[in-house]
Amino acid sequence: MASEIVVLPGDGIGPEVTRAAVATLQAVGRRYGHDFRFQTHLIGGAAIDATGEPLPAATLAACRQADAILLGAVGGPKWSDPSATVRPEQGLLALRQALGLYANLRPVRPHPVALGASPVKPHLLAGVDLLVVRELTGGLYFGEKQRHADRASDLCEYSVLEIERVLRRAFGFARARRGKLVSVDKANVLETSRLWRETATRIGREEYPDVALDHQLVDSMAMHLIARPRDFDVVVTENLFGDILTDEASLLAGSLGLLPSASLGDGRRGLYEPIHGSAPDIAGRGIANPFATMLSAALLLRHSLGLEEEALAVELAVAAALDSGALTADLAAPGQAVSTQAAADAVLERLEPRCHVAE
Ligand code: NAD
Ligand code: IPM
Ligand code: MN
Repeated sequence: MASEIVVLPGDGIGPEVTRAAVATLQAVGRRYGHDFRFQTHLIGGAAIDATGEPLPAATLAACRQADAILLGAVGGPKWSDPSATVRPEQGLLALRQALGLYANLRPVRPHPVALGASPVKPHLLAGVDLLVVRELTGGLYFGEKQRHADRASDLCEYSVLEIERVLRRAFGFARARRGKLVSVDKANVLETSRLWRETATRIGREEYPDVALDHQLVDSMAMHLIARPRDFDVVVTENLFGDILTDEASLLAGSLGLLPSASLGDGRRGLYEPIHGSAPDIAGRGIANPFATMLSAALLLRHSLGLEEEALAVELAVAAALDSGALTADLAAPGQAVSTQAAADAVLERLEPRCHVAE
């Protein structure tokens, strides 16, 4: 049966890295005999320019019909005026909310290349393998917003149901991994965090007594994540804390350009995107790292299409490309960088080795 994949390239480096991820899925389709069908739609700044809306109705309708969605990035200086009423980021947030994608998985498993590229000391990085589960459709991002001439507010709100469902996902992943979950909050100050902590404790006691649950305040967590990253297995947290902690965690991998993500709801349909943004400072130059988006395609294969072997093949091909020295400017030594296209090709040729004619 065919799988319908909606592709949303978006803005900045979005189209450049998305192209590499689509090529990855096409290579997997050919190698394993799957019929993947792609439909490209507008989102973000590109959609604002074409239609006036960051998430046009046609895009949302296509996403609702799809088996999976692959997204590049949205945003950029052209649409960032603080007084703008329509913003690219609203399109992405509306999509996550409309599809009920409340659990955002952000795995961090540094490849040996990180030893050279990360500012973190190499002996701290060996054996790091953590999964951040970020709540994605609640909290400050979606609370009521008010703007007056001389003050503004963003309401942070969470219901027990919203906390429970993302925690169950995180506990489930912890159970299937090394059995450890750290729940990150700011319960010493925030009421939503106290509800979060209470709920985590209850769900842990009643439903996951086999998972070791710890709580950590977000400020000290920002430090522990760098000081002792190996100690963490699954980390679960609310929307804004998860956003910030995962950009920090990208330093463990050596670059923001290496971290993929999967946004999941209760069904199989998911949204797959790198954790980085549209990187306006390097957009259009063919130098962005495509691996975070190619690894997001691997997560798409795993979580929405149930193709574990294929997902692993992509992950191994990316690891082999990194081993071979196919490093873009964010990872390479000065003067040694390869282009987005060359880095992508290093993965694609490992996924689909060319037939060599015997001499
Ligand atoms: P960013 O993630 O776009 O860039 C941060 C830094 O990392 C930049 O120096 C950039 O060049 C570098 N970088 C990011 N991805 C890279 C890659 N694949 N290869 C090499 N280097 C890479 O964050 P920012 O500059 O704070 O935000 C720029 C825009 O992106 C903003 O409009 C923001 O809202 C948007 N954004 C979108 C998403 C998304 O669409 N999911 C995520 C984050 C930020
Ligand atoms: C991310 C981004 C988005 C977020 C923005 C662009 C809305 O930073 O996906 O991490 O904050 O969720
Ligand atoms: Mn972010």
